[in-house]
Amino acid sequence: MDKLRITGGRPLEGEVRISGAKNAALPIMCAALLTARPLSLANVPRLRDVRTMAKLLGQIGVEADERADGSMVLATSAIREPVAPYELVKTMRASVLVLGPLLARCGQARVSLPGGCAIGSRPVDQHLKGLQAMGATIAIEHGYMNARAERLRGARIVMDLVTVTGTENLMLAASLAEGTTVLENAAREPEVVDLARCLAAMGAHIEGAGSSVIRIEGVRSLSGAAHRVIPDRIETGTFLAAAAAAGGRVRLSGAAPDSLDATLGKLREAGATISTQPDAIEIEMAGRANAVSLRTAPYPGFATDMQAQFMALAATARGTAMITETIFDNRFQHALELQRLGADITLRGDTAVVKGVERLQGAKVMATDLRASAGLVIAGLVAQGETLVDRIYHLDRGYEALERKLGALGARIQRVK
Ligand code: EPZ
Repeated sequence: MDKLRITGGRPLEGEVRISGAKNAALPIMCAALLTARPLSLANVPRLRDVRTMAKLLGQIGVEADERADGSMVLATSAIREPVAPYELVKTMRASVLVLGPLLARCGQARVSLPGGCAIGSRPVDQHLKGLQAMGATIAIEHGYMNARAERLRGARIVMDLVTVTGTENLMLAASLAEGTTVLENAAREPEVVDLARCLAAMGAHIEGAGSSVIRIEGVRSLSGAAHRVIPDRIETGTFLAAAAAAGGRVRLSGAAPDSLDATLGKLREAGATISTQPDAIEIEMAGRANAVSLRTAPYPGFATDMQAQFMALAATARGTAMITETIFDNRFQHALELQRLGADITLRGDTAVVKGVERLQGAKVMATDLRASAGLVIAGLVAQGETLVDRIYHLDRGYEALERKLGALGARIQRVK
């Protein structure tokens, strides 16, 4: 099992290129199920989760041709087997995104329930409620969702809570439904907007993506398209938090500053100097960060996927930060590992009270989930001595060659077997 060995204490200097967004690429790959025509994607990140999705789609009947330059062409001439097996779903919850498009394309799907995961119970009841409103019948048998629908028909669906993949699943299904679907209380994430843009390029009629009310007018069929995936705002935020913690001056090219307002605001509050161009962000940080309190919320609020990284930043900041996690019911696993590095963190329900210390001490720590791992790497960059982060397969799910990119910025970091 790979580990990352980090020797802390160096500022970050230089420039890195941001990869395509994992959480846009995954639903967009599933859009290929909606048409027999080729879907040509650019800027697809080279990640474990993308490979997992390509494998799942391959089993269903999608030919996915991945190219070295990060482009990918997907074509679904016919659905071979509309099934998402437990073995794949348990490694990646986003597998549930094949449910809506399969019902729309071939009227049936057998998808394993995702089960729990490290960041809390993550049910899919909103996905099912919406699909049933569109005429699907879904039976839960032996851990699988067995769904059928003669032809999905448009419906007005008020989501009980904001769910990113719930919104995406229903948007995918509604694109080919008979009539109009209105999603109320829809997720507003940039990745939802990118999916809508791709579907529109394929011929779908979608209005309101990015707002909390999305209208989809179903069409009879969709064509292929060419689409470029947006930059990954969480990878961008992760590098920004690393630079704010370690100090130095970093330029992120191929970034999308307009999707990071909440993060940029918190970094400025921490004392960083940030300048932005349309597709680049530059951060400069001298001296110790100020403690910054935050509360996660659906977009455009502060992203839950940035919470662990900002807890690592708070660990050595000046003052005390109150970090409240409102989206997931168990997303503080990294706090226990940060304490091993000497962080002073007290957990009180959905809030972590982080009292900044002068220095963290390097130690052996263990990654528990994708963004927790990123937080531990950031802590390792500032800790005195050597930090060894274990189980970094979690990192590989969502970061393309993180140690290479950080090494290019001067960090002493290497992957060890
Ligand atoms: C997406 O997950 C992202 N994954 C997550 O990123 C991200 O943390 C999350 O949105 C929140 O922003 C992808 O886009 C592939 P939700 P998703 O449905 O869609 C509850 C990463 O690091 N809920 O928005 O699964 C749920 O339990 C990953 O890249 C229901 O109760 O998250 C959670 O508490 C981690 N019923 C809250 O809503 C449902 O039917 C938000 O979940 C659906 C969700």
